[in-house]
Amino acid sequence: MNNSLSNNGSFRTPLLAGNWKMHKTVKESLSLVEQLKKDCREVKDREILVCPPFPSIVAIKESLQGSNIKLGAQNLFWEMSGAFTGEVSGPMLKEAGCDYCIIGHSERRQYFGETDQSVQKKMKAAFQFGLIPIVCVGETLNEREGKVHFKVVEKQIQEGAKDLNKEEASQLVIAYEPVWAIGTGKTATPEHAQGMHAFIRKNLTSLYGKEIAEQIRILYGGSIKPDNIDSLMANPDIDGGLVGGASLKSEDFSRIVKYVA
Ligand code: PGA
Repeated sequence: MNNSLSNNGSFRTPLLAGNWKMHKTVKESLSLVEQLKKDCREVKDREILVCPPFPSIVAIKESLQGSNIKLGAQNLFWEMSGAFTGEVSGPMLKEAGCDYCIIGHSERRQYFGETDQSVQKKMKAAFQFGLIPIVCVGETLNEREGKVHFKVVEKQIQEGAKDLNKEEASQLVIAYEPVWAIGTGKTATPEHAQGMHAFIRKNLTSLYGKEIAEQIRILYGGSIKPDNIDSLMANPDIDGGLVGGASLKSEDFSRIVKYVA
């Protein structure tokens, strides 16, 4: 799938991912995926992913059998097992049916003390246990107003996404989510997002070389909606979206998945 020419002219398969955060019980999750399966049935040449809360994962996996929608988790701990109350490991997620795992979301950095170091360890663990990590980066409003946003994102990439082997690096997914755009209704302009995505790819080039960096998908996240996805996806370095609020309704998320760039 990775070598088809996508709508923005790149050879990267677009990835549209729903981050459900702490929303939906098992019952509610199942009713959402049932609808999504119907609404996205015809979609080809793009990857669709849902990342529900942990309790729903096993039930959703069953419901997704034979569909074109993949399953991911929102976090993991880097150890395989052990006395780590409240944590979930890569092998547990893999066996439960996950293909992807979101790592270092800004809400985890802000409320749960995640750092670039913990992000890097989790990213490595994800690969070790057969999951593709979606590593989140992005500046706060203060950092943006202080004009240090490029510096902040550079450090997040250089420290949080380092030390992968080539095969791992080529599968890595990065999500650029400016914190001021998450859940606020303020979206980065397509120009701002494209500029930052190109900058991120430059940083990935310095870590892994051009050939690998060209294969890495960089998603945008932050108030993606049915009415702004088309213009975002028209940019050469925007390879998909990490969608929060708008992924909780099938009508909205399926329209986002079916973007026209
Ligand atoms: P939002 O969230 O789409 O609700 O802004 C995006 C995210 O936090 O992943």
